[in-house]
Parts: sequence; structure tokens; C-alpha cells
Amino acid sequence: MRLTSLRCYNLLLPNSFISRFTRAITTSNQKGRKCIPLQTTTVRLAVRAHSVSPASMVKAIRVHELGGPEVLKWEDVELGDPKDGEIRVKNKVIGLNFIDIYFRKGVYKAAAFPFTPGMEAVGVVTAVGPGLTGRKVGDIVAYAGGVMGAYAEEQILPADKVVPVPPSIDPIVVASILLKGMTAQFLLRRCFKVERGHAVLVHAAAGGVGSLLCQWANALGATVIGTVSTKEKAAQAKDDGCHHVIIYKEEDFVTRVNEITSGQGVEVVYDSVGKDTFQGSLDCLKTRGYMVSFGQSSGSPDPVPLSALAVKSLFLTRPSMMHYTMTRDELLETAGEVFANVASGVLRVRVNHTYPLSQAAQAHTDLESRKTSGSVVLIPDDAQ
Ligand SMILES: NC(=O)c1ccc[n+]([C@@H]2O[C@H](COP(=O)([O-])OP(=O)(O)OC[C@H]3O[C@@H](n4cnc5c(N)ncnc54)[C@H](OP(=O)(O)O)[C@@H]3O)[C@@H](O)[C@H]2O)c1
Repeated sequence: MRLTSLRCYNLLLPNSFISRFTRAITTSNQKGRKCIPLQTTTVRLAVRAHSVSPASMVKAIRVHELGGPEVLKWEDVELGDPKDGEIRVKNKVIGLNFIDIYFRKGVYKAAAFPFTPGMEAVGVVTAVGPGLTGRKVGDIVAYAGGVMGAYAEEQILPADKVVPVPPSIDPIVVASILLKGMTAQFLLRRCFKVERGHAVLVHAAAGGVGSLLCQWANALGATVIGTVSTKEKAAQAKDDGCHHVIIYKEEDFVTRVNEITSGQGVEVVYDSVGKDTFQGSLDCLKTRGYMVSFGQSSGSPDPVPLSALAVKSLFLTRPSMMHYTMTRDELLETAGEVFANVASGVLRVRVNHTYPLSQAAQAHTDLESRKTSGSVVLIPDDAQ
């Protein structure tokens, strides 16, 4: 008898016993030993939803060492049962984000090896920890940021890190927009508050975050200037509300911004490219402008002397979404505003690329080599 069959029988046993028992069977199976035969006439298990998960082995991507996309390994991983305050979630769609590349390469440090990357997913709750209220098996939930491990068929999550998903929004849209949309929310609404009449410069304007920044900034009444690397991306950025698009591989973006703003400069630059654009971004700002450096897809910018800010009394910030969604209220408000903007049509999500989860390495290769635009998602093989 296989582990998954346990749920068919009825016998009330303590949760701890059931957990130990199922783990023993799984371990036995893993080692290739004979399965423990169960006497179906005498053993009847009533498995409560919060006590035993349907299967302890899941497939996941794991990283054992830092490096290129080839270090993303597709492996069997044992998953325990949710403990106090936790839920177990079967992922339907996983959002790919540039931060996953930073962790794979070691730009950001993972807590331990091996680790499963991924900061964003949408899934269905398959088990809840003992005594947990407010979440139940079957709920559709999403999370973005704060917890790593989304590149898995199933995962254990702290219940207070997930948000409920409005039934009207397709899970694939949610996984494409939650992390990137919450990033756009805090950047445009709180980090620097964009207002009607502002001129805004967005680098990588056709990227996942960039596409949403342009749409939202346009809706707020700003004049939006976007930079992109290709003509195809330029067309998309234009469609997303960029009033002016600069192909920064072909044109000097500082000169072009200067022309577009009649020498005034912009109120704010949203710079996620980093090394290649940082100094130019400072040059595009008007006096008392805001330099928002929120990523480094081309590498980390060089150190900035205070004198570089003093010339125009500039503001410089290096924000992280985690610090703008720290409390439960902040998380729910930020996600809620993103979902509301999807529902009202302010934000249109471009799900331009989907990959099977097992082929996450190919997705990383494409994102890293600037082949993608809009959002990229991974679909677990058993959810396709
Ligand atoms: N601080 C935060 O809280 C936060 C949260 C979310 C995301 N982010 C940052 O936002 C940025 C965008 O993330 P995303 O997931 O939406 O990715 P993305 O924008 O879809 O992809 C990155 C884009 O950056 C541009 N780029 C320029 N130079 C590059 C280079 N040398 N290598 C690779 N790409 C380069 C490319 O656009 P072009 O081809 O048009 O140049 C590329 O498509 C990332 O830097 C990420 O770390 C920060």
C-alpha cells in the first residue's frame, strides 16, 4: 500500500503518530525497501486536513552551489507537515523574478545550502497547521517576497505571509503581477509619490516591473519616459503608456531626456539596471529630484560620493519591497491596491513567457540575457 492510500481508512490516531508513521513509510519507499503492508481490515485512519499531508515527497528546483542557470537542479524533496502558524500549499503558478537570479549567483545571500529559489507563487492550501484559524484546505492563496522556496510543486509557508486571491483574477495573472505590482505600488505611491504633471524616467520599461511602472505612472498623470534595449520592447513600452521611449543601446538616454524635458530633467528616476545607468540617471534629475535605485540587473552601481548628490540637492534611496510590506496591514493594503488596479484595468499584465517548472534553468537564461519582456511564469509539471 502506498502512502497516498492512507487517507482512505478510518481510525482516530494522534497527529504526531500519523506524521511519524507516514514519514517512516516514505523513508522506507525512498530507500527502495519494501513498502510496509497495512492490514486494511484492522487499520482505519481518519486523517484530519491539518494533520497529514497527501504526500511527503515533492519535486522542486534546488541550488547546491552558486553559479549559472545549470546549478538549478530538479530534485525530489521531502516536505513535512505544517506546524503552528503554517500552511502547506500546492503551487499552481510560480512567478519568476530577477531577484531569483541574484540569489542563484550570490549577489544576495541565501540562508543555507541547498536552497529552493523563488519568492512568488499562487496555489491551493492542502493542509493547515494545528489550531490555525482563518485558512482552510482548498483556499487559493498567493505570496510574494519574505519567504523563499516557490520553485516547488508544494511548499510550507507561514500563514501570515500569504494573501487571499480574488476569485475574479486568474492565478496566472496573480503570479505574474503580485511581486512586481507590489513593487510598483510602493515605488510610485510611497517611496516617491508620483503626481500629475511629474516627469518620470523608468529604465527597462518593457520588463516585468517596468511595464507596470509605466502603466501606473501614466494613470497617475505623469509624463512617462522609458528606456529599453530593442525596437520590439519599445513598441511594448509605448503600448504600456510611455509617452517617450528611448532605445538606450542606440541613443544616449541623458541627452534624450534633456531634450524631452527641455533641459529641466525629471522629478524621479526608477533605476533597476544599476551599474550601466546609475550615473546617467543622476544626470537626468532636476534639482531636488529623487534617485530611486531599486535593482542592479547590469551589476551593482559604483559607490556614490555625497558630492554627487550635493550638486543638485538630490535624494537617493535604495528601497526594498520587503521593508514596505513588513506588517500584515501593509502587505494586505499593498496587494489589495494591486488587485484593485488589475480589476479596474489600470494594470494589464503581460504574461509573455511560460515555462514548465522543471525547465527553470531555461527561464533564468532567457531573463538574464534580456530575451524576455513583461512577466515570466513557471508552471509545475503536475499542474499543467
Ligand atoms: N527593490 C525591490 O524591492 C525590487 C522588487 C522587485 C524587482 N526589483 C528589481 O527590478 C528589476 C526588474 O525585475 P524584473 O523581475 O521585472 O526583471 P525584468 O525587468 O523583466 O528583466 C530585467 C531587464 O533589465 C534590463 N537590463 C539592462 N541591462 C541588463 C543586463 N546587463 N542584464 C540583464 N538585464 C538587463 C533588460 O531590459 P532591456 O533589454 O530593455 O534593457 C531586462 O529585460 C530587477 O533589477 C529587480 O531586482 C527590485
